[in-house]
Amino acid sequence: MGAMTETMRRGAASAASSASPGEAPSVIPDKLPFARAASIIAVILLAGALFGYDQGVISGALIGIKKAFDVGHVALEIVTSWVTLGAMFGSLAGGYFADLFGRKRTLLAAAALFIIGALVQSLAPNVPILVFGRLVAGFGVGVAAVAAPLYAAELAPAAQRGRFVSSYQLAITVGIFVAYFVNQALAGPDGWRTMLGVAAVPGALLALAVLIAVESPRWFAKVGRREDALRTLVALGAEHDAEARLAAIAKSLRAEVKARSWGEVFAPRWRTPLMIGVGLAVLQQLTGINAIIYYSNSIFAAAGYATPAEQAQATTWGIGAVNVLSTFIAIAFIDGLGRRPLLIAGLVGMALSLAVVGFAFWQSATEGRLGSSAGVITLIALVAFIISFAFSAGPVTWTVINEIYPNEIRGRAVAVATAVNWGAAFLVSAFFLSLVHAIGQAYTFWLFAAFCVVGLIWVIVAVPETRGRSLEEIEASWRQAPGGS
Ligand code: BGC
Repeated sequence: MGAMTETMRRGAASAASSASPGEAPSVIPDKLPFARAASIIAVILLAGALFGYDQGVISGALIGIKKAFDVGHVALEIVTSWVTLGAMFGSLAGGYFADLFGRKRTLLAAAALFIIGALVQSLAPNVPILVFGRLVAGFGVGVAAVAAPLYAAELAPAAQRGRFVSSYQLAITVGIFVAYFVNQALAGPDGWRTMLGVAAVPGALLALAVLIAVESPRWFAKVGRREDALRTLVALGAEHDAEARLAAIAKSLRAEVKARSWGEVFAPRWRTPLMIGVGLAVLQQLTGINAIIYYSNSIFAAAGYATPAEQAQATTWGIGAVNVLSTFIAIAFIDGLGRRPLLIAGLVGMALSLAVVGFAFWQSATEGRLGSSAGVITLIALVAFIISFAFSAGPVTWTVINEIYPNEIRGRAVAVATAVNWGAAFLVSAFFLSLVHAIGQAYTFWLFAAFCVVGLIWVIVAVPETRGRSLEEIEASWRQAPGGS
């Protein structure tokens, strides 16, 4: 965790404020009372894990849903992908809610949406109601995905901000893994209802953690609730200097007010960083990551894993556990080696492994039967893909998105890139099965491989290295660039 240094801190801070994290005054005491710190961390981890759970659970549920409602691939795509559609809208609304109602109430609403969404899905008598449940849960995912990192960044002591916020990212991968694990345990014709319903339990735990945790003093200050802000700062351990810390919050809030309009995000002088952030957000999804996260059981089924139990096992360990563990590679090397080497190596790895998956499917198709080795080759290649993604496009995308924008537009630009990321996730998950239907498994994976190659060339040409540079240096480089101000 020691390697989660400057970059992560910067990224984290950018979620919290438009004030430069380098200048951000340390408003939260360095050492939080243990119970306070534990409840804040619990909120962050549960929010991340729920996001991941909602992402991962569908791969195990699809086969049962298909049987229960006797539906085709288009309905299955809608069932799968509408979580991302809900998340796209939820992420746009989340920041607004968090400012209007407070971080805690927004996270409580997200927890309620998770619980309602989970129960609706689990009890759904037909596909439209199931889809409605997915949309509701997805909206909760989007709201939490904005509110939780924001809450994390605002409640973290400055020196630990990176850890607080990046633990959210790690929690997503853990959530996916847990979902796969539950899928495996419940594999069977009717297991899908429980798989989807189980999300209500961590949803309730999240609500409980939010109720115990404190509200952000920064939000209290923002809405003029001075006494509440002071009381919270004292509860967080600032018995002696709560006034001074509140003054520091007020100062950074004044800097935030200077931030300009939404139109500024699209001003020509910021076109280069906007393109880089949005480009990475799209590229991350065009690698096909969520086609694999969502449809891995079906992919393994097509690759010759005959029983649901075998498919679930390959998914849990080959995809879920590998995803969690490989995220630590990025945490260890992102600041030392830099973003570009990780991205370049990862894209090469993803392109090659996707090409191999495509080849395994192509061979099976041309032989007219599944070669005995196709399943093993597919598993090895998909593991290689997940490792390559988890140390590169996964975490590097979010790091760069959070550090590449100038101060004055950062909050809004990050929201745009995040919504674009979910939009792209929606498109990929919405059309994956149709694509497989139209051109076959082999060409679908080769298409993702081709996107990785195009992305690789674009990264080499257009994405600058940001390792070790302060946010101010990065911002100055855009101003100096042709067309900059
Ligand atoms: C992506 C998600 C993806 C996850 C997989 C994240 O960085 O944004 O779309 O499901 O990684 O671990």
